[in-house]
Amino acid sequence: MQMIPRVKGTQDFLDKKLFQYILDEFHEHVSLYHFTQIATPIIEHVELFKRTLGVFTDVVSKEMFLIQSADTKDAMCLRPEATAPTMRAFLDAHPDTPWKVYSHGPMFRYERPQKGRYRQFHQINMEVIGSSSISQDALLITMLDRFFQEKLHIESAALQINFLGSYEDRARYAQLVKAFVDNVSGICDTCMVRKDKNILRIFDCKNPICQSIYEAAPIMIDHLSPESQKEWDQIQNELSLLSVTFSINPRLVRGLDYYNKTVFEFVSGQLGAQNAFCGGGRYDRLANELGSKQEYPSLGAAIGIERLMLVLEPIIDSLQLPQPKPLYIVMPLASEQNPLALLLADTLHAASLTVDTFLDGDSVKNMMRRANKMGAAYALILGEQEQQSNSVVVKNMMTGQQEQILQTQVVPYLRK
Ligand code: HAM
Repeated sequence: MQMIPRVKGTQDFLDKKLFQYILDEFHEHVSLYHFTQIATPIIEHVELFKRTLGVFTDVVSKEMFLIQSADTKDAMCLRPEATAPTMRAFLDAHPDTPWKVYSHGPMFRYERPQKGRYRQFHQINMEVIGSSSISQDALLITMLDRFFQEKLHIESAALQINFLGSYEDRARYAQLVKAFVDNVSGICDTCMVRKDKNILRIFDCKNPICQSIYEAAPIMIDHLSPESQKEWDQIQNELSLLSVTFSINPRLVRGLDYYNKTVFEFVSGQLGAQNAFCGGGRYDRLANELGSKQEYPSLGAAIGIERLMLVLEPIIDSLQLPQPKPLYIVMPLASEQNPLALLLADTLHAASLTVDTFLDGDSVKNMMRRANKMGAAYALILGEQEQQSNSVVVKNMMTGQQEQILQTQVVPYLRK
């Protein structure tokens, strides 16, 4: 019979230490900024994303994992991102604003897998819902910058920002880009489709010919209304005031349609083609797109955990990953000593010690080898003789020294 393979584009995490470390550090970091952790479901109605991300975005048009339940005709999907679900949850419950929340979990996009790009991946997602102040954008970006630089010691990252203006600015700008594209030749077929369906997406094209053509295209930040220009100046000033280093990438449009005003990405040269490990921006009309009569200007960002792990792997030694506690191995020499081994291990567990119990029988030599490989501090050996004398042989795995002591004395002995 053939083995069943892993689904394409998914990963098994056989050691989640680094993953968990990122979550723990983030949790501690955002609590300083007064964010609350939430969770939303993994399945949502497809309509939620169609209305918010844009029907012509790649995520909605080609990358959805659709699911159909047995008892309803409702089209559902595995969430491709967490901003629209967070806004849906907000509009359901109407908590006080600004609602500053974060969540984490798997997201699903049917993309072509490559380094740093998966079909199931994980994000830490954060949103500030119901705040129109552009200073909030500076605060969120600074919070992330501090997290990457000061908490995770990432030096290889760069922050890129851009300003998409108001929705009106953006619509006017789209017309300018359309006029530009209508007058050039040689763009790829994908861009030809994007030109008619979602013109600003052409700047996402990786084709070098298209990229060189677009170098001459008009730039959004050159065509901002006076109010938008003021906000664009403000965010740059505030980031500088807070000593956040950034560069302006006038071509940064992001892959989802809901953004206006500030957009940003943290990128790393270490990641190859998929170089963004965090991205976000402002989305002032998303609530209205979901049917809200009231406006809830908002902003947020998401960190791609797998990509952040790729950035961290080369510098893992500079991180203070939690050190495992000393490990004690209870080692019965024959199955007759298994009940006693269970009892001894139970006593140690009750004293909050970390214990592994070898219950499957093996030669002493093999068991010692295994204990060594596991980095055990002590082996607690129980043979027939120890069973009869209520004792245990305690072997220090570092020095090789061993002592026979009473079982009742094990906890105080190990604590010494
Ligand atoms: P996004 O740029 O689509 O934004 O995704 C955010 C991050 O998730 C990316 O920068 C990347 O690190 C990671 N990511 C995206 N797709 C994949 C993939 N296929 N494999 C591995 N990692 C991936 C959003 O999702 C927005 N909801 C962010 C946001 C929150 N904007 C406002 N609030």
